[in-house]
Amino acid sequence: MRAIEIKNLTFSYDKQEKVFNNLSLDIEKGKYCVVLGRNGSGKSTLAKLITGLLTIQEGQIKVDGIEINEKNIYDIRNRIGIVFQNPDNQFIGATVRDDIAFGLENHLVAQDKMDQIINEYAQKVGMDKYLDKEPSNLSGGQKQRVAIAGVLAMTPDIVIFDEATSMLDPKGKKEIKEVILKMRELFKDMTILSITHDVEEALLADEVIVVDNGEIAIQGTPEEVFIKDDLLKKLSLDIPFVYKFKNLLGKNGIEMDTIDIEKMVKKLCQ
Ligand SMILES: Nc1ncnc2c1ncn2[C@@H]1O[C@H](COP(=O)(O)OP(=O)(O)OP(=O)(O)O)[C@@H](O)[C@H]1O
Ligand SMILES: [Mg+2]
Repeated sequence: MRAIEIKNLTFSYDKQEKVFNNLSLDIEKGKYCVVLGRNGSGKSTLAKLITGLLTIQEGQIKVDGIEINEKNIYDIRNRIGIVFQNPDNQFIGATVRDDIAFGLENHLVAQDKMDQIINEYAQKVGMDKYLDKEPSNLSGGQKQRVAIAGVLAMTPDIVIFDEATSMLDPKGKKEIKEVILKMRELFKDMTILSITHDVEEALLADEVIVVDNGEIAIQGTPEEVFIKDDLLKKLSLDIPFVYKFKNLLGKNGIEMDTIDIEKMVKKLCQ
């Protein structure tokens, strides 16, 4: 089953320059997809169209088989969680607890049930010890984990990360990637769409989608995408280290499996 189906989507902000012209894209339910693409290629616009933060002008987007329209947009939006780049812009509550509670309150969840849900999701992202702290005093990585807990507490079908780790240091990035991997284990039906410039994250995904000039330039498994190094270079995109190495070996007539390369690199770095 498809979580997201986009058909012939055309969109422009100013009626002159089109961000998308006839874009079609399918994303299977339960997949972890990484979306790559240079600055201005339309990634965030796509996320906003899927979540209904922007209105569809031409074409259609279906979420779980239901076409987004004016009437159902609020229902559909409730089934999609989004985590943005800047953790500071995502806090409303005075404490971490209030913040995770915010979406639940909007859903009129009863108080005793709410406390249970808050504790459960704070624990899942490793923030249960911080529930009474002020969000503004947390580190960037901790803030993003709270934002993720708030989104997960709503049990969305789809979670979109729009460069959610780009403002974090390597440790914060690693922590959030671990939370994403854990989410995948815990919620097998949840579809995850992660927009990022971090090509190393793409290695963890089921599928990589490369957006360029308002079109899907490549879509496939990390292996299928990253062997196309000449095309990726043309699209100004970086390639994960293991594939740089694999492609270089391949060009010199040496075929080597990425798993073997990873093992070798690990051994050399010990
Ligand atoms: N609110 C807006 N009004 C007008 N044009 C916009 C608006 N937001 C984005 N654009 C334009 O739409 C195009 C796509 O922008 P978008 O933000 O979707 O790119 P992106 O792929 O997310 O880029 P980045 O990697 O820099 O985040 C760009 O040319 C951008 O200038
Ligand atoms: Mg963007």
